[in-house]
Amino acid sequence: MSESPSTSASPYGTLPPASAPAQRKPVSLPRLLDMHARGEKITMLTAYDATFAAAADAAGVDCILVGDSLGMVCQGLSSTVGVTLETMRYHVESVVRGVQRVQGTTWIIGDLPYGTYHASKEQAFQSASVLMQAGAHMVKLEGGGWTTETVRFLVERGIPVCAHLGLTPQTVHALGGYRVQGKTDEAAAELKRHALALQDAGATLLVLEMVPADLSAELTRLLPRCATIGIGAGVDTAGQVLVLHDMLGVNLGKMPKFVHNFMADAGSVLGAMQAYVQAVKSKKFPVNHLHAW
Ligand code: KIV
Repeated sequence: MSESPSTSASPYGTLPPASAPAQRKPVSLPRLLDMHARGEKITMLTAYDATFAAAADAAGVDCILVGDSLGMVCQGLSSTVGVTLETMRYHVESVVRGVQRVQGTTWIIGDLPYGTYHASKEQAFQSASVLMQAGAHMVKLEGGGWTTETVRFLVERGIPVCAHLGLTPQTVHALGGYRVQGKTDEAAAELKRHALALQDAGATLLVLEMVPADLSAELTRLLPRCATIGIGAGVDTAGQVLVLHDMLGVNLGKMPKFVHNFMADAGSVLGAMQAYVQAVKSKKFPVNHLHAW
């Protein structure tokens, strides 16, 4: 894996001063789709607070996902199911302040937690509004099939949507655990159907979690208007996402096989994030035989 470009003595790294000119234009939806069209890899990391969000922005991470994974890594819950909308609002606001503290260029995605978009499209709109008013640029929701009309409803009302297929942690109990999805021909065909329907409904990003590498490569080719973001889904997606605590090697539980610890060779958190950006952009991460199925 590549060396970290940062050699700061501080475990955090040195951020540019708040007054420094931004090194890049703010990431926007057209820019993300343009990156997908040009084959430039999109980098995404989760972050939950101002300090780590500021580092991600300074490191040039394209997108921050304020994921409901915070239930596990920040709150110590056993799954994401117990995370509330109010908790998500609090963390989105914190991340937005952190990003604004540095360059203010990173695209911020707020995760809609379990039970806040399932009852009706109107409920989904109310919940999404809370995260958008907290400063998110986009919301994420999990699942295919019934979510298609919810995505359409949100997009028609001006809310950009990131969908999420494959291993969907909010329904981990129904899926029978954290396991690879889309392995049989039937499951792969269903995943493809859902992905195409989500693109038609207007979803512009699609997280693919724990999906076989050849299937996510095929989906990436099939979806010109919806950039796939892989996590344990091989290298041939439009972009990659990792949970921050995993890529820093501070996960309290079992480290998923698809994770690389970027902190191990970096001098600082900022250096680890810069190494991640460099590794994803240059297609050195993930290494298919190590980090996918
Ligand atoms: O909540 C989260 O962090 C996520 C990622 C694992 C994609 O959904």
